[in-house]
Amino acid sequence: MSPPVVEARGVTRTFPMPAGPVVAVRDLSVTIATGEFVSICGPSGCGKSTLLHILGCVDTPSSGELLVDGRDVSTLGDAARSALRLSKIGFVFQRFFLLPMLTAAENVELPQAEAGVSRAERRSRTSALLDYVGLAHRTHHRPSQLSGGEAQRVAIARALANRPRLLLADEPTGELDQATGQQIVGLFERVHADGTTVVVVTHDPAIAARTPRMLSMRDGRIEDGASR
Ligand SMILES: Nc1ncnc2c1ncn2[C@@H]1O[C@H](COP(=O)(O)OP(=O)(O)OP(=O)(O)O)[C@@H](O)[C@H]1O
Ligand SMILES: [Mg+2]
Repeated sequence: MSPPVVEARGVTRTFPMPAGPVVAVRDLSVTIATGEFVSICGPSGCGKSTLLHILGCVDTPSSGELLVDGRDVSTLGDAARSALRLSKIGFVFQRFFLLPMLTAAENVELPQAEAGVSRAERRSRTSALLDYVGLAHRTHHRPSQLSGGEAQRVAIARALANRPRLLLADEPTGELDQATGQQIVGLFERVHADGTTVVVVTHDPAIAARTPRMLSMRDGRIEDGASR
């Protein structure tokens, strides 16, 4: 059996602040198995984004262990962590974070270039990805020339550019109307069906209801759904 895609063991994340430390995630353990589609819900400030950043190796825990593909990565340095992220993890954000000066295609090519993929392969993979997210006709548009739903599709294509095992999304429908948001969730369902493990943070119960597993967070802990 393959190891879990990611596993947090007793993870705490504390932010030192002048008024005293803020504990955003406290002694949290969770396992995300290969092939899962998981949502994370909970009130504002309960630590959802902090947890997602830790699972995605963007941030490191103050204490506890993080295993990616069975390997402890909590002690990796910045460069090693970046390399791991580039090859194994895709991130989608509420506000898309596309680079405004680049076209849709160039945004999708960028992480491939960083990973050393040849120009020819980048081109063909990018057009396949834009086709996959239904945006072949927007290849040369810049982000300001795209609708919110289109921009999020480009961001999803970019997140998939290096064939990650794990796709993480933080409120990916937060800027979109209900119908467009549901289409974006449909796209995540397809990504999941095509073999990628997906974790989505959401405030929207209608989205959480569409995932086979829901984690409920409160005050830095998972209240429900941590183990499987
Ligand atoms: N860089 C930081 N420095 C200091 N405190 C932080 C930092 N990031 C998060 N926090 C604090 O940690 C707690 C959890 O924040 P987090 O962003 O993870 O919440 P969230 O569940 O994603 O909330 P929301 O639903 O509003 O996005 C909050 O109290 C927040 O103020
Ligand atoms: Mg958040």
